[in-house]
Amino acid sequence: MSGRVIIVSNRLPVTVTKREKRLHFTPSAGGLATGLASFYREQGGLWLGWPGLSAESLRGREEEIMSQLQHYSCRPVFLTQRQVENYYYGFSNKTLWPLFHYFLQYAIFDQKLWESYRRVNRLFCDAVLEVADKDSTIWVHDYQLLLLPALIRERLPEAKIGFFLHIPFPSFEIFRVLPWRADLLNGLLGADLVGFHTFDYARHFLSSVRRILGYEHNLGVITTERQLVKVDVFPMGIDFDRFAYSFERADVCHEVRRIRRRIGERKVILSVDRLDYTKGIAQRLKAFDLFLERYPEYKEKVVLILVAVPSRTRVEHYMLLKREVDELIGRINGRHGVLGWTPIWYLYRSLPFSTLAALYNLADIALVTPMRDGMNLIAKEYVATTPGDKGVLILSEMAGAAAELGEALIINPFDLNQMAEAMREAMEMPEEEQRDRNRIMKERLRRYTVHRWAEEFMERLDEIKELQRDFISRKLSPEVRETLLQDFVKARGAIEFLDYDGSLVPFASRPEKASPDAALRQLLRDLAHLPNNKVVLISGRPKETLEEWFGDLGLNLVAEHGVWIKEKGKDWQMLEALSEDWKEAIKPIMESFADRTPGAFVEEKRFSLVWHYRRADPELSNHRARELKDALLDITKNLDLLVLDGNKVIEVKPININKGRAARYFLEKGDYDFVLAIGDDWTDEDLFEVLPLYSYTIKVGFGVSRARFSVNSYREVRALLQEMVQRRKQGPGEGT
Ligand code: UDP
Ligand code: G6P
Repeated sequence: MSGRVIIVSNRLPVTVTKREKRLHFTPSAGGLATGLASFYREQGGLWLGWPGLSAESLRGREEEIMSQLQHYSCRPVFLTQRQVENYYYGFSNKTLWPLFHYFLQYAIFDQKLWESYRRVNRLFCDAVLEVADKDSTIWVHDYQLLLLPALIRERLPEAKIGFFLHIPFPSFEIFRVLPWRADLLNGLLGADLVGFHTFDYARHFLSSVRRILGYEHNLGVITTERQLVKVDVFPMGIDFDRFAYSFERADVCHEVRRIRRRIGERKVILSVDRLDYTKGIAQRLKAFDLFLERYPEYKEKVVLILVAVPSRTRVEHYMLLKREVDELIGRINGRHGVLGWTPIWYLYRSLPFSTLAALYNLADIALVTPMRDGMNLIAKEYVATTPGDKGVLILSEMAGAAAELGEALIINPFDLNQMAEAMREAMEMPEEEQRDRNRIMKERLRRYTVHRWAEEFMERLDEIKELQRDFISRKLSPEVRETLLQDFVKARGAIEFLDYDGSLVPFASRPEKASPDAALRQLLRDLAHLPNNKVVLISGRPKETLEEWFGDLGLNLVAEHGVWIKEKGKDWQMLEALSEDWKEAIKPIMESFADRTPGAFVEEKRFSLVWHYRRADPELSNHRARELKDALLDITKNLDLLVLDGNKVIEVKPININKGRAARYFLEKGDYDFVLAIGDDWTDEDLFEVLPLYSYTIKVGFGVSRARFSVNSYREVRALLQEMVQRRKQGPGEGT
């Protein structure tokens, strides 16, 4: 299965149904299945998903289903009745679906449903592992499988994993409501590439990642502790030719003639959706009612063909909607209809392609007015079909498709008046104008088809993988780690420069909270007491703090990035005389920025000032940090001061002070055949730069660095130091 594209979605493009004990295989409805179906067939890919019936009702027929589905290059993931209830109807469609579509009032939050969602995502992971290996490209789709990318990543760290969300990603204010929000985001960040239909959804996602997980991004690339994740926008297209040339198919022509005979010369308004409350069907019907009432001259001259495809029928809000739509149609038909004319033709079923395409061919107007929709392919399919470029699309501004189909009549689906007026405008629109509008939209749809969409996604996936490879090649491999340990054991003179925050402990919300735990103190003490070994803790922190936390461990200490040095057994000393007069001018500026940024604060060290903003609102504080930096650069232009952008800090300090100078001081005073330096941010780059070439320089985390190697987190650093202590104690020859 090496190198093959594996598509994973909850629903397969083929749904299995059972009638009178016989199994039937029919194409699935919904944008995901219809959109991707042609792409994966051409790719020779494999599609994993749920066949649509519970395992119980298919018991004993598993083999038959497997082999039938194989003809479609599909592989079933069987779900029990309970899993269907709790994971599919439950968490997917009673929690995530309403919430992501801004129907907060419909969303339920239930731990039991969440547990089931987690379990089923694991089940999907097992199914993937049966067919995938490290060279596979795995493309996971949609909100039912948000945890899957990270689950696969754990088992196949090198695989290429893409994720695409077919529904909106809501704004942070909505998403934050979810009790399991962090787990879901972490699940997605297992992917190499996360794709959305529109820029807004991507923006919302990035903002949630930043606010909930604290990861920043750079041009859509998020750096987590484990990897780089690219977030990008790919508006899904359609199989353009299939619709644009549908009229050339005999079955479609036949359907067009059959339906036309029944409608006569009346104009056709078409509405097609899954019966879903996000689609705005009831509002659309009310607007049609208003239109007939306001413009009675159109009575008997128009029919609204309303196709509602049954969907998620066991969810209460779908049942309620069905009842509401049935009643509304009855009422409108009763109110306006006359003998020989029924205003609304209602089809509650899934249609074969020939009928659907025939309706697109016939419709003078398509009414696509969802309250919220990730993309909406119906709108695109209709525009692509319009014969002779004639036809008017009325489109909701809440559909992702509105970002690309700006030449449609764009309406707000909450505004019934505007919808009724748009119907009238569409009825009266000159044919020339219809053609002008459709030609522009068609050209766009012709160029950016679903094939292009999928190809572009795959290209981007390759690009991010390439970028990651640069980082991975620097990762401290087991082989290099082993050589490092052996060199350390053999060394006649060894020295380690260790940064503290982010390298030996994780970041804390306030600097004073990151005090060393007992295990770390013991580790540093052990390391410092090894013979022929010197440990230099080299930090940006004030000397008082270092003294308090590490004064008794036998370490050499460097405080304030090199202002102060304390050699083991001696007193603190300054590398050179420094002035602190400049602080008077800088501090009030920093303070005024802190006053205007809740959560930010100023830390004063003897020879530097630091503006911290880790605890502040990320968006506001990023903005303020930029402003502050500009202000500081301006005021320090003629002073010997440096303004530096750190990890959620802006620091001002004398220009000639840095960790590199301090390190040089130690190196010049001794003779070392083993040098190790570990750090995580820009202040450590000065350190890496001055060390001899044979040094082991290690950057903690991803990111550009002068260090030769990298590790993922402070945990790996501690494990390495621990092993150094053990190996030295064992003596040479005993390590492997
Ligand atoms: N569709 C279908 N059978 C039908 C009616 C529609 O397969 O009877 C297809 C239609 O061609 C379109 C998809 O269902 O490709 C609907 O996708 P859309 O993005 O509009 O909405 P979704 O159902 O994904 O929310
Ligand atoms: C939307 C979702 C898909 C889903 C489809 C049909 O398009 O984005 O993930 O498959 O609706 O819904 P269903 O619940 O029947 O799979």
